[in-house]
Amino acid sequence: MEVAIVTGGSRGIGAATAVELAHRDKKVLISFRERRRHAEEVLQRIRDLGGEGDLFIGDISKPEVARGLVERATTLGELTVVVNCAGVYHPRSLPSLSPSLIEDMVATNLLGPLLVMHEALQVMRRGVIVNISSVVGLSPSPGMSVYSVTKNALALATKLVAEEAGDVRIVCVAPGPTDTEMLRRYHPYMPADPPEKVAERIMWVIDNGVSGKCYTVP
Ligand SMILES: NC(=O)c1ccc[n+]([C@@H]2O[C@H](COP(=O)([O-])OP(=O)(O)OC[C@H]3O[C@@H](n4cnc5c(N)ncnc54)[C@H](OP(=O)(O)O)[C@@H]3O)[C@@H](O)[C@H]2O)c1
Repeated sequence: MEVAIVTGGSRGIGAATAVELAHRDKKVLISFRERRRHAEEVLQRIRDLGGEGDLFIGDISKPEVARGLVERATTLGELTVVVNCAGVYHPRSLPSLSPSLIEDMVATNLLGPLLVMHEALQVMRRGVIVNISSVVGLSPSPGMSVYSVTKNALALATKLVAEEAGDVRIVCVAPGPTDTEMLRRYHPYMPADPPEKVAERIMWVIDNGVSGKCYTVP
């Protein structure tokens, strides 16, 4: 059976993506950092649909966690899809951020996806890796420079790693505001897409995306 990894699969866009992948007969390995209850709820939704999956806890910016995640996936079947969705958002200017929040964004939003791609490309012979960037990565904004830089760098990594990845396609999706806990914490009233709409776009990109390209959500 084909296996899909979704980092940040326990909430928001990642959770909607995990459920869509289960609809498409993938066994889904849901990665999350700490909040197990949300991950268990997503796994239950997948099982209620007749699908299969598993959970993996850990901070994907740690090399041993990224390695362990991919190793676990290979015990479940053939890894053919990876969605690098885990992310953190602290929308402040560089001078107003604490060093630990700067580190958290660079580690989770950039180092994590690079490590997961590195490990996945050791074992994948076909399939697709989808990196979740952001519209503020494509059109970076002052006021949230560090977040924008991490998302811009992830779109660039997609373009460059695509040239290094053999038969595995590397693509990127850049959502706009999406109705998740991440957005609502800072922007309670901002108009936003439902996470299911972004998940649909991710499915389209998995089927049709050209390697190296970044796609917005229409
Ligand atoms: N929401 C938006 O408006 C929006 C717009 C553009 C782009 N995006 C991007 O879309 C992605 C998903 O966003 P979202 O709004 O769905 O986020 P969310 O609701 O805040 O969910 C974040 C997910 O990432 C996991 N996570 C965070 N740090 C992690 C780490 N170091 N290691 C492993 N897992 C980690 C969380 O696990 P725990 O539950 O255990 O913490 C959770 O599953 C992010 O990359 C975000 O930057 C979001």
